[in-house]
Amino acid sequence: MTPIKTAIALFAGTGLVAGLAVAGPGPDEDQLVIEGETLITEVAAPEDHPLDTIYSGWRFRSDETQALEIDDFENPAMVAVEYGLDLWDTAAGSSEKSCADCHGDVDSLAGLRANMPKWNEAAGQPWSLEHWINWSITEHQGAEPWKWESEEMLAMTALIGLQSRGMPMTVETEGPMADWIARGKELYYTRVGQLDMACNQCHEDNWGQMIRADHLSQGMINGFPTYRFKWSGLGSLHRRFSGCMKNIRAKPYKRGSDEFVALEAYLAARGAGLSIETPAVRN
Ligand code: HEC
Ligand code: HEC
Repeated sequence: MTPIKTAIALFAGTGLVAGLAVAGPGPDEDQLVIEGETLITEVAAPEDHPLDTIYSGWRFRSDETQALEIDDFENPAMVAVEYGLDLWDTAAGSSEKSCADCHGDVDSLAGLRANMPKWNEAAGQPWSLEHWINWSITEHQGAEPWKWESEEMLAMTALIGLQSRGMPMTVETEGPMADWIARGKELYYTRVGQLDMACNQCHEDNWGQMIRADHLSQGMINGFPTYRFKWSGLGSLHRRFSGCMKNIRAKPYKRGSDEFVALEAYLAARGAGLSIETPAVRN
C-alpha cells in the first residue's frame, strides 16, 4: 500500500486524514482524587503554549480504567511498587549497601520525578530518572546497572515517582535546559516515518477525537512509568514514545537516547503544572 493508503486504512473515520474535523468527545469532567488528595488534571497552559488548557491523559480514559488509578488497592502497578520497596532495602554490589542504607526512607527522593529530566552538570546534559538511578547503582552501590525496561528499573522508577505523586511537573526550563527543550520541540513537530506524521498532528491538532477505538489525549507524560493493559504491565515513558513512533511506521530512537531525553524535556515543559500521577493506569 502507498503511505497515504496505509494512513487512510489506519485512521479512516478518525478525522486524521484529509483534514476532516470530526468533533470528538473531549476530556470528561471527572476529578482525580487518590487517597483523599485531589490531583491536578487540568490547568491553564503556560504562556507561548500552543494549547489554552492542558489535560492529563487520565481525563480521556473510560470510567473503568480511571477507577483503577483512583484506588491504590486496585492499581495493578502497585505490585511493582512493592517490588521496588524490596529492592530499595536489598544490599547489593561492592558497597554491600542498599539504597536505604545511603538514602534512608525513599520519601527522601520526593520531588525528584517532578523535575525530570534534570540537568547533570558533570555529564553536560539532562538525565532521565533511569539515568540517575543507574549512575547511583554503578557509582555508589558498585553494582551492575539495570536495563531501561527491566522489571527492576520499572519498579524503582514507579516507587521513586510515587513519592512525587500530586506534585506539579516543574522541569527546569532556563539555562542549558532551554536548548534541550528547543531540540525536543523540533522533534515533536517533525514529520517522520512512512506515514509522514508528527506528534503534534495527533496530540495537538486532534486531541479529544477518537482514533479507531482509542480516545486521543494531549500525550502528556505525568503518569509514567504507566501500567497499560496493552503491555500487561508497567512501561517506561520512552517505551511509549517508541510505540507512537512505530504506529506511524517510523524507526524509534533508543530508550535513553539524547532524542528521547530532549522529547521528554519538551513534554515536561509542555505539561507544566499537571500533577505527577505515577504510576498511572491506561489502556
Ligand atoms: C497517529 C497518531 C499519533 C501520533 C502521530 C503520536 N501519537 Fe502519541 N498516542 C497516540 C494514541 C492513540 C495514544 C493513546 C491514547 C492517548 O493517551 O492519547 C497516544 C499516547 C501517547 C502518550 C501517553 C499519554 C498518557 O496519558 O499516558 C504519550 C506521552 C504520547 N502519545 C507521546 C507521543 C509523542 C512524543 C509522539 C511523537 C513522537 C506521538 N505521541 C505521536 C497517537 C499518536
Ligand atoms: C553507597 C551509598 C549509595 C547507595 C548504596 C545508593 N546511593 Fe543513590 N546516591 C548516593 C549519593 C552519594 C548520591 C548523590 C548525592 C545525592 O543526590 O544524594 C546519590 C544519588 C542518587 C540519585 C539522584 C538523586 C538526585 O537528587 O539527583 C538517585 C535517583 C539515587 N541515588 C537512587 C539510588 C537507588 C535507587 C539506589 C539503590 C538501587 C541507590 N541510589 C543506592 C549514594 C548511594
